[in-house]
Amino acid sequence: ESGLTFYEAVGGSETFVRLVRRFYQGVANDPVLRPLYPEEDLGPAEERLRLFLIQYWGGPRTYSDQRGHPRLRMRHAPFRVGTRERDRWLEHMRAAMDEIALPAELDQQLWQYLVMAAHSMVNTLDET
Ligand code: HEM
Repeated sequence: ESGLTFYEAVGGSETFVRLVRRFYQGVANDPVLRPLYPEEDLGPAEERLRLFLIQYWGGPRTYSDQRGHPRLRMRHAPFRVGTRERDRWLEHMRAAMDEIALPAELDQQLWQYLVMAAHSMVNTLDET
């Protein structure tokens, strides 16, 4: 087939910059998610998520150069991630994906991954 990585197919780093920037604009205004983020400045968190996604999808490996093995479940352990947090995370991500408006097949591929990953990050049972 094309031989392009997914990273290249969606337009490279610029696409991930736009996706993650829009996502964090949602987080910044979310009363449930915003308190989970330990830093006042969401910029560094935005950069980590962007670099992780770029690496995951076949782009430069800057994330692991800076952070080592992703170990995402372990890195989320300090934060309360219940189904409520997961669903809000996905809501902001869906809004960001709608904004970058990838071709349907690429959208589906990325979205399927994000839903799976978000489900796997839940680490707290809901208390109803
Ligand atoms: C970090 C919340 C799902 C990737 C973080 C942080 C919080 C958080 C509070 C710490 C901010 C920072 O200092 O970087 C959540 C919540 C989720 C969720 C509430 C809901 C399910 C995901 C998913 C992914 C992801 C699905 C990947 C597809 C990352 C990455 C980091 C991070 C790469 C930075 C890790 C590091 O290098 O330290 N997340 N997250 N998160 N999250 Fe999530």
